[in-house]
Amino acid sequence: MLVSAKDMLVKAKAGKYAVGQFNINNLEWTKAALLTAQECNSPIILGVSEGAGKYMTGFKTVAAMVKAMIEELKITVPVALHLDHGTYDGCYKCIEAGFSSIMFDGSHYPIDENVAKTKELVEVCAKKGMSLEAEVGSIGGEEDGVIGKGECADPAECKQIADLGVTMLAAGIGNIHGKYPENWEGLSFETLDAIQKLTGDMPLVLHGGTGIPEDMIKKAISLGVAKINVNTECQLSFAAATRKYIEEGKDLAGKGFDPRKLLNPGFEAIKATIKEKMELFGSVGKA
Ligand code: 13P
Repeated sequence: MLVSAKDMLVKAKAGKYAVGQFNINNLEWTKAALLTAQECNSPIILGVSEGAGKYMTGFKTVAAMVKAMIEELKITVPVALHLDHGTYDGCYKCIEAGFSSIMFDGSHYPIDENVAKTKELVEVCAKKGMSLEAEVGSIGGEEDGVIGKGECADPAECKQIADLGVTMLAAGIGNIHGKYPENWEGLSFETLDAIQKLTGDMPLVLHGGTGIPEDMIKKAISLGVAKINVNTECQLSFAAATRKYIEEGKDLAGKGFDPRKLLNPGFEAIKATIKEKMELFGSVGKA
């Protein structure tokens, strides 16, 4: 069922667990994510970056694929199709394409401009029954060309954006997209605690879910994180499983070069990673 992310996140925040956002790149990724969510009886958010949307030939293709797959695979758990780190223009393209949720990443604008643009999108999304994620304080590292310095968000600015009526709020707390460097200082729970105290019931979003130690994930959930984004970790497990298949020469044996065989270990690896994350985030059985 394609739905907005609102209900699943309100429930997650109240129930002290988090819903995973898993970014998709192609048909195999999408199928792996949807089937795992169904098997785990878990809600799921499919994240699509602007780069991945372009790679899949455009947001309309993505929306059509996801909707058809939900129907043909008989997926009954709640699924949100969500634009990840959207630009202002990208948000409107996804609204038109039939996404059920968008993220407007206005973190690089001065706060007043972030507020004005987010406010406008809150109204548009409300009319369409869509959920909206806003961002304050950029997430560090690079994702599909979106580069952030990784500063901690100002809790007062978070409140200002939360009060506009967004569905969920991503706040920088020292998290980074991609692998964490050896000298990473960890998440700033002080910042997270201050943000949650000012924003109350607002579901908070933790980007850069790859490589955050389990105890930090659990502590973040206890401090109001209700959505956790994972992208790189699925890419790494897909790549490792595919590498193993080829290094073992399996593509050269019989019809091992058949793409349905060649891509299968990677597909299964994505499924295993998503299942592991759903168990860690506590969303299993919460559909
Ligand atoms: P990772 O690639 O570090 O898992 O981050 C994903 C993310 O935050 C998507 O917005």
